[in-house]
Amino acid sequence: MEWFESWFDTPYYHILYSNRDYTEAENFITQLTSELKLPKSSEIIDLACGKGRHSVFLNKLGYKVLGLDLSRQSIEHNKKFENENLQFKVHDMRDIVDHEPVDAVFNLFTSFGYFDSEDDDRRVFESVSDVLKPGGFFVLDYLNENFVRKIIVSDAKVQRDEIEFNISKKIENQHIVKDIKFTADGRDFNFFEKVKLHTPESIQKYAEDNGFERIKIWGDYQLNDFERENSPRCINLFRKK
Ligand SMILES: C[S@@+](CC[C@H](N)C(=O)[O-])C[C@H]1O[C@@H](n2cnc3c(N)ncnc32)[C@H](O)[C@@H]1O
Repeated sequence: MEWFESWFDTPYYHILYSNRDYTEAENFITQLTSELKLPKSSEIIDLACGKGRHSVFLNKLGYKVLGLDLSRQSIEHNKKFENENLQFKVHDMRDIVDHEPVDAVFNLFTSFGYFDSEDDDRRVFESVSDVLKPGGFFVLDYLNENFVRKIIVSDAKVQRDEIEFNISKKIENQHIVKDIKFTADGRDFNFFEKVKLHTPESIQKYAEDNGFERIKIWGDYQLNDFERENSPRCINLFRKK
């Protein structure tokens, strides 16, 4: 099993990141949808939706939303939010989405860069392109590799509920690798996260090869312009030609 199939599906992943900022996520979505001038009749896929924080809010704003994620636990959790215009399904982003073309696909909060093989990376862009209408938007909200290299802190302890997570980070072969050790429910666990340090150029290449043009890069969730050295995020806006 790959690390991203097991770790994201455990309750401990959700405990470690339980301080996720919903207000920031909602403000980001509000700004993003108004920037894209997406009419309320639009249909949006939240690709790698996790526990649905963006999907649920997009639906509250009036959009029709399909949230997709590989984690069965997360999709199971999200089923309680479903309505006529909000559906969730287990789906691997490397596979073609069995759905009529939509107006936008969002991949948010570094939900890319997990695969060892470049072919798998390419498959993500292919499947997004396949499920978008011509002129449709693809928002890929990714880390800024330069910024990650600059601010990396090697060791940290994080206390959440009763669990102390011991986290060490390093950069290895163009990846940021986070090693996560903790004891919970009477057992010792050791998981890791490994995300490829794609550059804005390598991302653009995948996009162009799959019929997209990049029309904007923002550098943070307030949608300030991207600065290679200082921006915490690399939020790519692509349009399918
Ligand atoms: C960093 S989390 C972000 C979740 C969500 N977008 C958010 O902002 O809360 C990454 C998500 O990607 C999902 N994921 C990992 N590999 C995947 C794959 N191959 N296909 C679909 N989803 C995947 C994980 O299960 C996890 O929910």
